[in-house]
Amino acid sequence: MSRFGLTCLRTLGPAMHESDVRQEGPGQSRGGLSSKRTCLLLSACVACGCACAPSPSPFDTHGPNAFATSQLGDFMIAVATVVFTGVLVFLLLALFRRHQNRPFNRAAQDDRGGIAVIIVGGIALPLLTLTILAVLTVRTLITLAAPPTPAALTVSVIGHQYWWEVRYPDVGVVTANEIHVPAGSPVNLEVTSTDVIHSFHSFWVPQLMGKLDTIPGQTNRSWFEADQPGTYRGQCAEFCGQQHAQMAFQVVADPPDQFTTWLTNQQQPAAEPSDPTAAAGEQAFARVGCITCHTIRTGQSPTGGTLGPDLTHLASRQTIAAGTLPNTRGSLGGWIANPQAIKPGNKMPILNIDSATLQSLIAYLETLQ
Ligand code: CUA
Repeated sequence: MSRFGLTCLRTLGPAMHESDVRQEGPGQSRGGLSSKRTCLLLSACVACGCACAPSPSPFDTHGPNAFATSQLGDFMIAVATVVFTGVLVFLLLALFRRHQNRPFNRAAQDDRGGIAVIIVGGIALPLLTLTILAVLTVRTLITLAAPPTPAALTVSVIGHQYWWEVRYPDVGVVTANEIHVPAGSPVNLEVTSTDVIHSFHSFWVPQLMGKLDTIPGQTNRSWFEADQPGTYRGQCAEFCGQQHAQMAFQVVADPPDQFTTWLTNQQQPAAEPSDPTAAAGEQAFARVGCITCHTIRTGQSPTGGTLGPDLTHLASRQTIAAGTLPNTRGSLGGWIANPQAIKPGNKMPILNIDSATLQSLIAYLETLQ
């Protein structure tokens, strides 16, 4: 993938300026652009093949919150199967009796046994079944109301079109699309959304917890726990616009000591790049306008916009563009050069950056460990 991405970058390089494209002449220009677009799309598809892990199953639970929900779900499926089978049996029986010219309702009129069937099967059994399900549902809701032991960590998630802002309010860490937590410990979760209209998202990590809506002006709370280290895919579970399906994230459950190392690193400002290309990239980050939407903390006070993800430790993340691409040199280049070809309708504009500037930006972003 990386080599393919670089090949694409080389192809893309000369086309960054509109003037460069014009120099090629009309016929060549169209062909060149088309092949470059194809290359970008191919790059995105190949990258997606790498980035999109198999869909996680809510039945393959890895934490107590998801387990409680899944247990209730299993029981409901079992009850529904029995009820469905029972209804089918009675239906077949009725058809069979009708075939023999012994309609079921006549049997009910003639026969006290028929009335008993209706009272037991039509009233008592459904009442009993629904009561049992209601009691179990309330019991599960009580279990889910609070973690088994108090959570020491709070993660605050803000849904945007089409990415996830992740904050650790107690320690001042801000990141995006990748939530690190210590394995084996419960985590308090609070979610909201800041987009003004139409921007309801739903936070869902099928293997760890059920869906939790993110609503502008409201904070919804829950908790989850990953019982063992691993990476768990999360997904926006409520239609929120054109790129709803590409609004993914990851929960990375680290062993506790690794989590502490991660958190300490995230608290640090970005290191000044020593490499000349990366240093030029740092200048370009402000010059070409990336800084308007993205923050890279280089000192005590953060400078930069908040419309897009905080990039202070971008290189430490596994994916970019909300789980759409793996975080490699090739995908970074393809994404910066033409984010609209990869996620049409997202808020990152095409900046028409020349090849040298693009290379320096990538070099700078790669230093942000
Ligand atoms: Cu955000 Cu769907």
